[in-house]
Amino acid sequence: MSKGLYLVKILVQFMSVKTLQKELGYTKYTLGERLSYYEPSKNISQKTFAQELSQSIKQKQKSINPKFFYDEKGSKLFEKICTLPEYYLTRSETNILKQLDGKLQSYLDGNFRLVELGSGSAQKTRILIDILTKSQKHVEYFPIDISNTLKNSSTVLESDYKKLHITGIIDNYENGLEFIKNYDDMKNLIVFLGSSFGNFDPENGIKFLQKINSSMKKGDLFLVGLDLVKDKKILHEAYNDLQGITAQFNLNILTRINSELGGNFDTRKFAHHAVYNENQNKIEIYLRSLVKQTVKIPNANLMLEIDEDELIHTENSYKYTISQIKQMFTSTGYQIEEIWSDDKRYYSLALFSKK
Ligand code: TRP
Repeated sequence: MSKGLYLVKILVQFMSVKTLQKELGYTKYTLGERLSYYEPSKNISQKTFAQELSQSIKQKQKSINPKFFYDEKGSKLFEKICTLPEYYLTRSETNILKQLDGKLQSYLDGNFRLVELGSGSAQKTRILIDILTKSQKHVEYFPIDISNTLKNSSTVLESDYKKLHITGIIDNYENGLEFIKNYDDMKNLIVFLGSSFGNFDPENGIKFLQKINSSMKKGDLFLVGLDLVKDKKILHEAYNDLQGITAQFNLNILTRINSELGGNFDTRKFAHHAVYNENQNKIEIYLRSLVKQTVKIPNANLMLEIDEDELIHTENSYKYTISQIKQMFTSTGYQIEEIWSDDKRYYSLALFSKK
């Protein structure tokens, strides 16, 4: 850990929340009567896009961090993916969420604040807000998202739900979790939907679960969407749709490098490549170079030699068995409250409390 971050961590324990948010380098913006958001005013020891890219793309296995998928265009394309016939994940998750009405309430004693990691367009969030607004006079909603689309989705939510008070945090999950840790006494229902947890490799996944756990108070709940191991044909098709939207989404990361870092990637010289790794239960997603080529990225000081058929790794999407889920969460400080699934056993929503 860097010296700066370490200092911030120590300070965190001694300062009141209000000064803490300032110290963590956030500026508060007010967008409406019931809507404000925090954005980092300065980057405390946070690497830039150029720095992060130049490290990962110089490795033997070239890679690009998937968090860079979600610029405005990327976020839009991802929303489209969620509506594709092959991409069962969103539909399965939505169905399970809808069936939570009446079931989730028995775990909610008192008022809960909804904290969402990676809120995106916040479509599925509506189902949870509907459930919470039934039993609560006010509902606080803290979306944490790296993408600016948070502002737009929150503005729509604010006008649709008069009981909703929104405080957005435009930052990565780790910083967002620091932000809500010790925020106040209100119980949090932390939700992490869309199988995004599956995008961590096992080691970082465990660390992330510990991070969430350490930001939870006794009585807080954690609801997470996890994709289940299934027939590999179904998995393959979910990440190789016929319309090629997934390919566009994957390739858009190169377009983003071009526009933000002055790169000269020719997207016609790359192909989307997604395969299921049966040994490790994960979909591996790459960009495959169709020719031997040289690419320049001046603002990251990079000159890349890429071979024909060379793969640039962009994402992993892990699939789990129920017993893996139980093992993973009980070993990281959680108590299993319930694991829900759809009729086809394609997908699961799991609810945990802090042990
Ligand atoms: N969280 C999504 C998933 O694992 C992300 C995703 C879906 C994705 N399709 C993709 C990432 C295609 C990269 C490329 O299902």
